[in-house]
Amino acid sequence: MTRIAVLASGGGSNLQALLDAIDALGTSAPARVVLVASDRAGAGALDRARRRGIATAVLADPADGAALDALLAGHGVELVVLAGYLKLVPRQVVERFDGAIVNIHPALLPAFGGPGMYGQRVHAAVLASGARESGATVHLVSEEYDRGAILAQQRVAVEPGDTVATLSARVLAAEHELYPLTILQLAARLSARAQ
Ligand code: GAR
Repeated sequence: MTRIAVLASGGGSNLQALLDAIDALGTSAPARVVLVASDRAGAGALDRARRRGIATAVLADPADGAALDALLAGHGVELVVLAGYLKLVPRQVVERFDGAIVNIHPALLPAFGGPGMYGQRVHAAVLASGARESGATVHLVSEEYDRGAILAQQRVAVEPGDTVATLSARVLAAEHELYPLTILQLAARLSARAQ
């Protein structure tokens, strides 16, 4: 049973999709979420966790690698999931969770990624480029934004007349399918390795 921490800055719909997928698997789930942490005290993701009785934390200084590392160690975390987390994860944590820290990005990386490319800005850039498709990318986290190895992608069409709102809703629906599946596959691999 792989112990997951989710780091989130926003509403936490990807966190919710993961929790729902774990619930749906019942006792055969290869993982559970033991901690949800945020750089923002008002993040909706924290409320979602509290409602489920999951431990929560607000990071006083998201750049403090030692503090985050200690927090994760204190909860016995084995897999770190970034779900709409907008801060760079400190080197110390990226190194300790080598191969066990993942992110989801709302476009088909390596296009439309990098510093400053998050949330609605990504969809605005996709629309401005005239691209005919977009999608969601799950990747391992490295010390550079959106540059780690790609684990999975799901494509969606960019439709004529799309706005940031319509495209982001279509991509988010793809994220909610792709992310739990990819996380639980990785969790199953990690727990097999630990046995
Ligand atoms: C998601 O679309 C996620 O891909 C994006 O933020 C949103 C969070 O939504 N992440 C990034 O842009 C990271 N570069 P959520 O809080 O409802 O899961």
